[in-house]
Amino acid sequence: MSDLLEKIVSLAKQRGLIFQSSEIYDGMAAIYDYGPLGVELKRNVKERWWQAMVYQNDDVVGLDAAIMMHPDVWKASGHLDAFNDPMIDDKVSGHRYRADELIEEHAAKLRSDGKEEEAARVEGRLARALQSEEPNRAFYDIIHEEEIRGPDSGSFDWTEVRNFNLMFESNYGPTSDEKVYLRPETAQGIFVNFRNAQETARQHLPFGIAQIGKAFRNEIVARQFVFRTREFEQMEMQYFVKPGAEGEAFEHWREQRMQWHVDNGIRPERLRWHEHEQLSHYAKAAEDIQYQFPMGWKELEGLHSRTDFDLKQHEEHSGKKMSYYDPWEEERYTPYVVETSAGLDRTILMLLCDAYTEDEVSGDERTVLQLHPELAPYRAAVFPLVKKEGMPEKAHAIEADLRQHFNVMYDERGSMGKRYRRMDEAGTPFCITVDGQTMEDGTVTVRDRDTTEQERVPAENVATYLFDRSREWQAE
Ligand code: GAP
Repeated sequence: MSDLLEKIVSLAKQRGLIFQSSEIYDGMAAIYDYGPLGVELKRNVKERWWQAMVYQNDDVVGLDAAIMMHPDVWKASGHLDAFNDPMIDDKVSGHRYRADELIEEHAAKLRSDGKEEEAARVEGRLARALQSEEPNRAFYDIIHEEEIRGPDSGSFDWTEVRNFNLMFESNYGPTSDEKVYLRPETAQGIFVNFRNAQETARQHLPFGIAQIGKAFRNEIVARQFVFRTREFEQMEMQYFVKPGAEGEAFEHWREQRMQWHVDNGIRPERLRWHEHEQLSHYAKAAEDIQYQFPMGWKELEGLHSRTDFDLKQHEEHSGKKMSYYDPWEEERYTPYVVETSAGLDRTILMLLCDAYTEDEVSGDERTVLQLHPELAPYRAAVFPLVKKEGMPEKAHAIEADLRQHFNVMYDERGSMGKRYRRMDEAGTPFCITVDGQTMEDGTVTVRDRDTTEQERVPAENVATYLFDRSREWQAE
């Protein structure tokens, strides 16, 4: 794990952002719990996404579909037959790997050792294997011919490469032979509800359905903190258009989605588009927004032009019409779909990576999370300078006023320096202090997290001041 990622994992635990799941039982690999601060950050991200996708677009409506769906959904979508990753086991360590990632990591290692030509050759072989008729056979050959050793054992004793279906399954109802799957993507809940949502919301094409919810994938290798986990949340929107209009819709959402991340304060130079080299058989176009994580450029969000594949599949498997009748053009057709699919947990990790800063204030080193104020777990903290002379009471009154608008922290423990440091690490953009002057003229100091500069503001104007400053905020 990179230094920065290690620091973020440690800060996340100490400050109550993210904990290992079931920690007291030694944890569950690749499953995480969001603590008191983490849950606020997550809620704020979801709120901003919902604002941008649903409230600001009169042609997008929301949905909250169930996690468990009829098993035929996954037959129709192709997940039962084809949602597989290639796995291989190291017989000596007993560890399991994703064959394609093992090769990818081998190539990366060659490159970091200065063996550029060899790395390029291995990457070329991997690209051809991914396109081949029998990818598992091809992965196996590469691993053997390139003598790729077990990363943990250093040995060279592999099993065959087999397909591993990533869906978690369970049983439905009291009879154990009725299978049910935990959804591996939220999208299918949207597809099967396409007509319900369109008719009840009285929408005409083009229109979109947005949803935020949990998804589950039994990932073979899940590492790098909340980047790849077995339980995660997606923020997805499926935009239904007349066939032929998908190119324009793709361009529109392409622009919107990148701008959303920039508006959240992410440094634009750490974001880029990456076109898929290999398209799924039903896709017309697919691009990912990648972020430059400490472990390299990685996918954050996908933009996919999915044709009419999903609706047609559900029409065929359910026997129900999934087409749309256009009353103006008096024609019926199956819509094409442009999908925007973002990982919430990856967005959180990106925000933490982008916001994490170490600097020096008056000779003291500090760690600060420079989060967008509208995303920060606490919008403000309120401190009485001392625990006497009516200052705690006044500070509590300001806290109560601000709580009507934002999540706010009250803290009277420790020196002012320590209180500021705690709030810097929590990413709190504004610290409000009630001091002697407050008791005389009713003004308080408002300290800016990023510049540490302080301004005096009348106590009754603090809420408006925080709203305005939050709106104007720009990443350094
Ligand atoms: N409906 C399309 C779909 O699910 P995807 O590329 O498989 O597409 C979309 O997933 C996004 O979901 C990814 O870009 C990523 O942010 C997030 N995601 C996927 N698998 C994940 C995992 N195991 N852990 C965390 N996030 C994941």
